[in-house]
Amino acid sequence: MTTVEGVFVTGTGTEVGKTVVAAALARTLAAEGLRVNVFKPAVTGLEEPGEADHELLRRAAGCGQSDEEIAPYRYQPPASPHLAAKLAGEEIDPKRLLAAARAAADADRVVYEGVGGLLVPLTETYLIRDLAHDIGLPLVIAASPGLGTINHTLLTIAAARAAKLEVAAIVLTPWPEPPSEIERSNRETIEALGQVKVLTLPQLDLADPDSWPALRP
Ligand SMILES: Nc1ncnc2c1ncn2[C@@H]1O[C@H](COP(=O)(O)OP(=O)(O)O)[C@@H](O)[C@H]1O
Ligand SMILES: [Mg+2]
Repeated sequence: MTTVEGVFVTGTGTEVGKTVVAAALARTLAAEGLRVNVFKPAVTGLEEPGEADHELLRRAAGCGQSDEEIAPYRYQPPASPHLAAKLAGEEIDPKRLLAAARAAADADRVVYEGVGGLLVPLTETYLIRDLAHDIGLPLVIAASPGLGTINHTLLTIAAARAAKLEVAAIVLTPWPEPPSEIERSNRETIEALGQVKVLTLPQLDLADPDSWPALRP
């Protein structure tokens, strides 16, 4: 499934900035005049307050997709998708997921956001990494800039490359201005040991996408 250009945004874990990075990528493309769609296989934690991932992604892309078109599986508890589905008395169907992912690709560009990290299960046998493989687009990996990120990021790169997934870039987010010595060193060390491009994304005002800088992996 590589007929449309786009990226698959994953991360070193949960709450590491995947949605913000995916939103910034979508906004950058939309600002170039391209028609951008977004997709997220499952949204969990809807019971928690605040804007849900699919809502921020839609706002950033400026697309007219429905909740269902962006995220076919949506659950209230903040649990892994396979468990959230089970608690709702259902099971995620990889075939249905792929069909929805393909439908989302009806645009100039599409930005996919994963759930958690690469080895998070969508079903007991189908992981986010399998979905990324089936979608077939290069990965952008969101990671935090601070202590611990070298190991988490290199593990994620290793897991991606073990499945023959291309890693387009790492994005360290939110990147502090000025960065500390540790943060600068983390960036250089990941670039050298991971043999990968490492970009940074500053703290964004999420309420105002027009104020965001371009992010081009
Ligand atoms: N560049 C950034 N600017 C503003 N907030 C950020 C940035 N990067 C991360 N965050 C914040 O960090 C938290 C986790 O980010 P999020 O994108 O939701 O993570 P994930 O999608 O990986 O769970 C959110 O509160 C988000 O607003
Ligand atoms: Mg997210």
